[in-house]
Amino acid sequence: MEKKQPKRYTVTAALPYANGPIHIGHLAGVYVPADIYSRYLRAKGRDVAFICGSDEHGVPITLKAKKEGVSPQEIVDRYHKLNYESFEKLGISFDVYSRTSKPIHHETAADFFKKLYDKDKFIEKEEENYFDEENQQFLADRYIMGTCPQCSYDKAYGDQCESCGTALSPRELINPVSMISGNKPVLRKTKHWYLPLEQYEGWLRKWILEGHKHDWKSNVYGQVKSWIDTGLKPRAVTRDLDWGVKVPVEGAGAEGKVLYVWFDAPIGYISATKEWAEEKGIDWEPYWKSEDSKLVHFIGKDNIVFHCIIFPVMMKAEGSYILPDNVPANEFLNLENDKISTSRNWAVWLHEFLEELPGKEDTLRYVLTANAPEAKDNDFTWKDFQARNNNELLAIFGNFVNRSMVLTKKYYDGTMPQAGEWTEEDKQVSEEVKTFPERIADKIENYKLREALNEMMMLARLGNKYLTDNEPWKLQKTNPERVKTIMNLSLQICANLSTLAEPFIPYTAERLRRMLNIEMLEWDDAGRIDIISEGHQFNKPEHLFEKIEDEVVTGQKNKLIEARKANEKTNAKVKPAKENIDFETFSGMDVRIGEVLEAEKVPKTKKLLKLKIDTGIDQRTVVSGIAEYYKPEEIVGKKVSILVNLEPKKIKGIESKGMILMAEDANGQLSFIQPDKNLDNGSEVR
Ligand code: 2FM
Ligand code: ZN
Repeated sequence: MEKKQPKRYTVTAALPYANGPIHIGHLAGVYVPADIYSRYLRAKGRDVAFICGSDEHGVPITLKAKKEGVSPQEIVDRYHKLNYESFEKLGISFDVYSRTSKPIHHETAADFFKKLYDKDKFIEKEEENYFDEENQQFLADRYIMGTCPQCSYDKAYGDQCESCGTALSPRELINPVSMISGNKPVLRKTKHWYLPLEQYEGWLRKWILEGHKHDWKSNVYGQVKSWIDTGLKPRAVTRDLDWGVKVPVEGAGAEGKVLYVWFDAPIGYISATKEWAEEKGIDWEPYWKSEDSKLVHFIGKDNIVFHCIIFPVMMKAEGSYILPDNVPANEFLNLENDKISTSRNWAVWLHEFLEELPGKEDTLRYVLTANAPEAKDNDFTWKDFQARNNNELLAIFGNFVNRSMVLTKKYYDGTMPQAGEWTEEDKQVSEEVKTFPERIADKIENYKLREALNEMMMLARLGNKYLTDNEPWKLQKTNPERVKTIMNLSLQICANLSTLAEPFIPYTAERLRRMLNIEMLEWDDAGRIDIISEGHQFNKPEHLFEKIEDEVVTGQKNKLIEARKANEKTNAKVKPAKENIDFETFSGMDVRIGEVLEAEKVPKTKKLLKLKIDTGIDQRTVVSGIAEYYKPEEIVGKKVSILVNLEPKKIKGIESKGMILMAEDANGQLSFIQPDKNLDNGSEVR
C-alpha cells in the first residue's frame, strides 16, 4: 500500500557525546547519511527539522573530566564547540545543534520523567548495586567494566558491551572492576526507578516485528528481534551520580540521583526541536506529536536498542508522541583494515582532516558514502580515498563539467548556444536524463545512499561519455552547428548535476551552480533538458576537483601509524616488581664500571656485538645482544656497567666473560647504565 506523503519530517542524528572529537566512523555511520537525506528532502521542498546536538551527560564525560582533573562542564564546552564547528565545515546542515546541558533540556527531560512518574509508569525498587568503597561512589554504567556474559569480551561496560552490542546492567558483568580505583566493587543497597520494558513486549512485537519487517533494515530488525526474543527486563532509568538531570521528585528518596543518560539523551532531540522552533517562531509539537509527521532516527549500530526499544517505550508510556517511521542504523566503518578505536588512537579525526586537507570536504563525504557501511562493516583506506577522488570525482564528474565549460567559453565566449536538430542519440540521452531525479530519490527514500550516489555518478558518466563519443573539439571545424547542440545538451546535464549532486557533495554543487550562474532547482524540476536558455551567460570555468598526490595519502597513513605508536608508548605498562631477594643474593653480584675499547659485529648474526672492555681488573671480551640498537663505532669509548663474575659462556664460538647491564623501558628502548661522574674503570656498583 502506498504510504501517504508526510507533511513534515523530523530527522534526528545521534547526539554525539561531548567527550571527544568526531571521527570518520561517526560520519559514515550517522552524520553524512542523515545530511544527505535532509538535504534531499529540502530539495524536494519538504518541511524538515534536522536535529542534533551534544550529549553532555553520562559517565564517559565525568570519567574524562576526572582523568584530566577538570570539571565536566569544561570537557563538554570544549568538545561541543569543536564538534559543532567541525560539522559545520563539513557541510552537515543541521537546523539546530543544541546541548543537553541547556536549561531547556533539563526542563524537558525532567518534565518527561515527571509525567511518567505521575502516570505510575515506573517501578520503584531498592536493590544492591556495585559501590566503590575507596571513592565512596556507586558504580553505574561506564564506571564499571567486566566480562560480557554474552560474548565474553573482557572490556564490556556496565551499560553495554561494545563488542556484541548487548545492553547490560553492572550486575550482569563477570569479574566487575571499578574504573575509578581499579578495585573489586562491593554491593550496597540503593533505590531506583525502572522502566518495565517487559510490559511492552506485545506492543513492540506488533509495532516492529510485524509492522516493520519489510521496511526496516535487516540489521536493525534482527537486533530488535533478538532483544525481544531474549526477554525484556525492567531497566533502571535513574543513577546515583551528580552529573546529569536531577531526578525531579521530591521527598521520595531521589536526592543525589540523576536521570540515566540514555533516558535524557533522546529527549535531547525534543528539547533541541523546541529550541529551534522557538527561534523560528513556530510550534514544535507537530514535529513530534502529529501523525502526519515522519520521524527518522539516524544512528550507529551500537545505539539500536536505545532507539528501537527504550526510547519508543518511553514515548509510548508518555502517550502523546509519534514513533519513528524508520531507524536506519549503519554498521561500523573500519580504518585501514583495523577497527577504529579512540583509545588506541586509530582514527581519522574530522577536525584534523579539515585542517590538513582543506577543500577536500566533498571528497570525504563522497568516499564515506561510496563506502558506507550500510549492510555490513566496511573499510576506509587512504588509497581508496585518493583513487575515488582522482578516478571518479575528478576524472568523471570534474572532467565532464570542465570540458563542457571550457569549450563553451572558447566557442561561444561563455554563453549558452542554441540547440539545433536532435539526433537519435541526443533523444536517447535526454530521455535518460529525465529518469535521474526519480532514480536517485527512490534510493534515498529507501536509505540506500551508496546506490543513490552511484546513480548520481551515472548521470555524470552519461554526460562524460556523450562528450567523448561526440568529440565536439574535432567537429567544431567541420560542423559547428552540430557542436552547438552537443554543447547545449552537455550544459543541461551539468545544470541537472548541480542540483542532483547537492545532497552528496554540496560544496561542489554550489560551485557548479555559481559557474553555471544558476540557482538550485527544486528536485522535481531537475531531469529537464531546457533548464538553461539560449544566450544565458556563464561564469568563468574553474576546476571542481584537484588531484590528490601520493605524498598526501602516504603522509596521512604515516601519521596514523605514528599516532598509534605514540599511543602505544603512553599506554605501555611498566612490569611489576619481581619477588624479593635477600641482601646476600644481591651482594654476590660483582658489578663494575668499565669502558668499551673495541666493538665489532659478530659475523652472520643480526643482534650480536663482540666488545673488548676495560674492567679496571682486566681487559676482556664480552658478547652483547645490542647490535640492533648501537653501531660498533658509536660505542667505542663509552662507559658501561658490567657484571664481571657471571659464569663465562661460549656464544657463536667466542668466549664471553661477563655481561653488559642495560636498562630497557616498556617500549623496548635500550640504554647503557652509566655513571654521572667520570669514575675510574673498575669502580664498584653497589
Ligand atoms: O553513542 C553515543 O554517542 C550517544 N551519545 C548517542 C546518543 S543518541 C540520542 F539518544 F541522544
Ligand atoms: Zn558482548
